[in-house]
Amino acid sequence: MAHFPETFLWGGATAANQYEGGALEGGKGLSVCDVLTGGSLTRKRQMTWIDTETGKTGYMDLRPRHSVELPEHAVPAVIAGEYYPSHKAVDFYHRYKEDIALAAEMGFRAFRMSINWARIFPHGDEEQPNEEGLQFYDNVFDELQKYGIEPLVTMSHYEMPLDLAIRYGGWKNRKLIGFFENYASVLFTRYKGKVKYWLTFNEIDNINGFPFICAGVKEYDAQAIAQAAHNLFVASARTVKRKNEIAPDMMVGQMLAYMPVYGCTCDPKDQLLAMEKERDALFFSDVQVGGEYPRYKLKEYERKGIVLEMEPDDLELIRSYPCEYIGFSCYKSMCVSAQQPEARNLKNPYLKVSEWNWTIDPDCLRITLNELYDRYHKPLWIVENGLGAEDRIEDGKIHDSYRIDYLRDSVKSIKEAIELDGVEVMGLTVWGWIDIISAGTGEMRKRYGLVYVDMDDEGNGTLKRIRKDSFWWYQKVIRTNGEDLE
Ligand code: BG6
Repeated sequence: MAHFPETFLWGGATAANQYEGGALEGGKGLSVCDVLTGGSLTRKRQMTWIDTETGKTGYMDLRPRHSVELPEHAVPAVIAGEYYPSHKAVDFYHRYKEDIALAAEMGFRAFRMSINWARIFPHGDEEQPNEEGLQFYDNVFDELQKYGIEPLVTMSHYEMPLDLAIRYGGWKNRKLIGFFENYASVLFTRYKGKVKYWLTFNEIDNINGFPFICAGVKEYDAQAIAQAAHNLFVASARTVKRKNEIAPDMMVGQMLAYMPVYGCTCDPKDQLLAMEKERDALFFSDVQVGGEYPRYKLKEYERKGIVLEMEPDDLELIRSYPCEYIGFSCYKSMCVSAQQPEARNLKNPYLKVSEWNWTIDPDCLRITLNELYDRYHKPLWIVENGLGAEDRIEDGKIHDSYRIDYLRDSVKSIKEAIELDGVEVMGLTVWGWIDIISAGTGEMRKRYGLVYVDMDDEGNGTLKRIRKDSFWWYQKVIRTNGEDLE
């Protein structure tokens, strides 16, 4: 059987808006996620707003591929009496020592987390950072260092300061490049020697469906999204440049949401559609990692009449400072048919689905790893993979064999990509290694964790941490460096 390299970075992943809490403490400002309500079986996650003239408040569905259409004079805001899961989340802010000890007990070599941008720059456009925010992450990194765990830090995981969205219109405004560059410089200067691995923008390609959460852009409009993407690319290049100047031994990676897209039949039209759908994501790595705008995208922009505002050295910067590795999330695959080109998520008759209707595809990771490695020849890191499922406690235990099965297939798939295909894989950080709030639905009931957290969809519970069966399984996998998967 295949062997994982000794340096393989096994670990788990989280994001501040879903994990950290302390949203109104330590001088932190509001981020775009802090105005999203919780979701449950009976209630959808929504954005809350306030009318700045009348003081009236209201709720709005955040539907994918739709504009955020608020009444005139209304802005996204926190309203009284509402439950916002990101505000407390599962309280990493106060429990980081306990949680890091649990991660160490499992044998983690890497710990993916994000820095909450609004904790460092509460409004986003300040020149000076919030010292209390910086100190919090110093404490976290010191704790990780104590156990020899490498932090893997996302700089923006759906946590841009809300003010940047409200006052500047989000990433379609070029000014954000400078704000982000300042933020990145502060982080690199402060944490050099403590953090080696960085990711810039979580799932950058999700701007295609969720421009507000990803980039603070309210309009679901091709021109606005293309401009925001361009500004993100320039910011990414400037971030890599600053990193080279401040601490060249650190590494800055791209973070892509990727799922293989299959044509539903061998009709070439299905295959063509699958190719186009994959390009929706690959475009972002083609630029951020490959260093240039691909011709298929330029042609598409031409057809749609999209014109990018650029400065003369933008393209040169993008070419000169590509990301150094690719971190990606991969949970499922997708199936498309030219007969129903608009339909998403068609049923794949060969695959089962999760309770949330996500396909469970045991070959997903091997396929993705090969696609990305063949295209870019850069090291890859699976920074998110896992199964969201409802868990039941029996006699104080959680027997999550379904999660172990899913993860076992994932590890096998990675192993095959390494051994059979020679792909360079840096690590695996299992998503939501401890139960956290779901990004998509705002639920707590959709659990990914190897560690259970006692809290429900309304935020009630003791927050007690309980090791699930998968905790012991993953501990053994790490201890044997991926040899014993039973
Ligand atoms: C990724 C995100 O899209 O998938 C995470 O980077 C998210 O933030 C994860 O939590 C799983 O999605 P969900 O909606 O099940 O939480």
